Amino acid sequence: MSTGALPGFRDFYPLEFAERAAIAQSWRDVAHRYGFIEYDGPPLEPTELYTKKSGEEIVGQLYTFTDKGGRSVALRPEMTPTLARMVAARANALPKPVRWFSIPQLFRYERQQRGRLREHFQLNVDIVGEADVRADAELVCCALDMLRALGLSGEDIVARFSDRRVLNLILMNHRVPRDAFASVYAVLDKFHRQPRDASAAKLVSAGLTAAQADALFADVDRVATSGGGITADTGDAGEDRAGAEALAAIGRYQEYVGALLGAPSRDWVQWDLSIVRGLAYYTGIVFEIFDRRGQLRAICGGGRYDGLLAAAGGPDLPALGFGMGDVVLTELLRDRGLLQPGLPRLDYWVAAEGDDAESATAVNTLAGQLRRAGKSVEYAFRWSSLGRQLKAASTARARRAVIVKRDAAATSMVTVKDLDTGDENTVRLDSWIAQA
Ligand code: HAM
Repeated sequence: MSTGALPGFRDFYPLEFAERAAIAQSWRDVAHRYGFIEYDGPPLEPTELYTKKSGEEIVGQLYTFTDKGGRSVALRPEMTPTLARMVAARANALPKPVRWFSIPQLFRYERQQRGRLREHFQLNVDIVGEADVRADAELVCCALDMLRALGLSGEDIVARFSDRRVLNLILMNHRVPRDAFASVYAVLDKFHRQPRDASAAKLVSAGLTAAQADALFADVDRVATSGGGITADTGDAGEDRAGAEALAAIGRYQEYVGALLGAPSRDWVQWDLSIVRGLAYYTGIVFEIFDRRGQLRAICGGGRYDGLLAAAGGPDLPALGFGMGDVVLTELLRDRGLLQPGLPRLDYWVAAEGDDAESATAVNTLAGQLRRAGKSVEYAFRWSSLGRQLKAASTARARRAVIVKRDAAATSMVTVKDLDTGDENTVRLDSWIAQA
């Protein structure tokens, strides 16, 4: 049998675990700074929770099986449907807006590629019960602050956002037929990854004229360079009004983001019509965060999903959120030298000079006292020379060794050695332990 983990699954040896824990701790600190509170749900859910709303891509990647009770169940591939289900179940009792976060481990049977595994830990931050665009601004700033807290700057990362409603407005402005919208989304999703000619050819085969494709590209460029410049001109007064509202909301979004970040919003958050998002439930502003060098997959993605709560059987509450995975983020932080948590250190190693039973009991007594005083302590289960015990203390990254003297019972003395500096002092045990 192989000693390796399954493809796409990770073993977290202590060093990797320390890295993961450092990221999670930073996520928790920033989430609390923003007033989000932590929740969790089950790792196994009914398969239909995902088949109903998540969209084809994720459903094709489900780890799903029939349990012993004959139910079709799936390991959670994302947290949003669980969150929607949990909030829907207690919607009336929960104070609004709900501001929750969670760090679940998720499972997707993905094709192996850099930055994509078959399990990952994903910070999820969501707000339920707020329709105003101020909540959208709050969320993207929270995601960016998560990354700033880990040491990344505006030179390392950028958030790109779009809004399906504005995209639809643009398509209506150019009189693109509705049944071609889905094909346009798919082309835009790959916009930066394929030559423009190839995108144009795909649009034409989806039913657009070459002039419509050009007009769409011109809008994509205008939005990317000026951060706006779109107007509502669909030929339908109702659509124009809705489009103008969506455009005004984006203007406010950019303003609030700048205010919260204390920097021009364009330094961190750029409008990019190619941000489409694969999941089926998004309804408004959506965003993804990327490394600026463009070497890695998205670090984070999310947006507004106003219809999902009602679809999960709850009241019709607006909602929005994002997911930030640990895989790409860990790569980026390692790459920038920002991840050096190291292993935890021990406060004391208790060693014994003598190999008699009395010394062994004295070591255990002292270790117990120190641990009850809140110190981290180790000692050797079997006696070996003092030199070897001190070597073991260094290997265990102890800060100090406390050496119980051979005649400990008679003198009640211990030698305390600082293992970083080599300084040592022999002191009375009872007075030392009172201040240890
Ligand atoms: P998502 O875009 O599928 O969104 O995932 C969010 C992030 O999770 C990605 O940007 C990436 O960092 C990470 N991620 C996703 N799949 C993998 C994978 N196979 N391996 C490593 N990392 C991965 C969602 O899941 C939404 N439910 C997020 C959300 C929360 N929307 C609203 N609230």
